[in-house]
Amino acid sequence: MNLISMIREDLANAREHDPAARGDVENAIVYSGLHAIWAHRAAHALWKRGLKGPARILAQATRFLTGVEIHPGATIGRRFFIDHGMGIVIGETAEIGDDVMLYHGVTLGGQVLTQTKRHPTIEDGVTIGAGAKVLGPITIGAGSAVGANAVVTKDVPAQHIAVGIPAKSRPRNPDERVKLVDPDYYI
Ligand SMILES: CC(C)(COP(=O)(O)OP(=O)(O)OC[C@H]1O[C@@H](n2cnc3c(N)ncnc32)[C@H](O)[C@@H]1OP(=O)(O)O)[C@@H](O)C(=O)NCCC(=O)NCCS
Repeated sequence: MNLISMIREDLANAREHDPAARGDVENAIVYSGLHAIWAHRAAHALWKRGLKGPARILAQATRFLTGVEIHPGATIGRRFFIDHGMGIVIGETAEIGDDVMLYHGVTLGGQVLTQTKRHPTIEDGVTIGAGAKVLGPITIGAGSAVGANAVVTKDVPAQHIAVGIPAKSRPRNPDERVKLVDPDYYI
């Protein structure tokens, strides 16, 4: 995918996810979440080419500007959306699929200090609510949601909702299989 197509896709995704979103030009200027993911893609490309120092410096500068800290080693799919930005931490070995959405204050963190896969895998179509902490090399299954302020330390199956501390999972009801952020709910 070329750069222009990727930027267009991200802007369309921002419009779809945020009922407050207006024009693309305005969104490209004001959305810290977009700035963070665009900078991450550049930092990740540097990281993969072995330019780890510059990648870390770019990630740190982005953190300073956006409040979103994404390690350049993290793997992130398409149409990733961060609403509100600020206070997000995504660790080095985190793997994020397509169509994932995070609210502010989410941590995808590790629990050990060894150089192993130590951060979560977030499958396609997952939404993680504000302030949630997802810790360790666990998997949040496709289409699941993590509630605001949950602390998740165990796998969550696909199409489940996990809430609480420690988080407990329950199957998502069929009528909940719509996007949690459908603008129709707000209009
Ligand atoms: C977890 C979540 C996805 C559940 O949505 P839902 O299935 O529609 O759940 P409901 O609102 O019907 O609530 C079901 C029950 O779970 C409880 N619950 C909902 N969210 C919860 C949460 N984050 N933590 C603990 N309990 C929660 C409700 O109080 C309710 O309890 P009850 O059955 O005792 O009344 C949603 O509540 C959530 O946390 N979304 C994140 C949104 C967010 O972060 N927004 C930030 C915008 S700035």
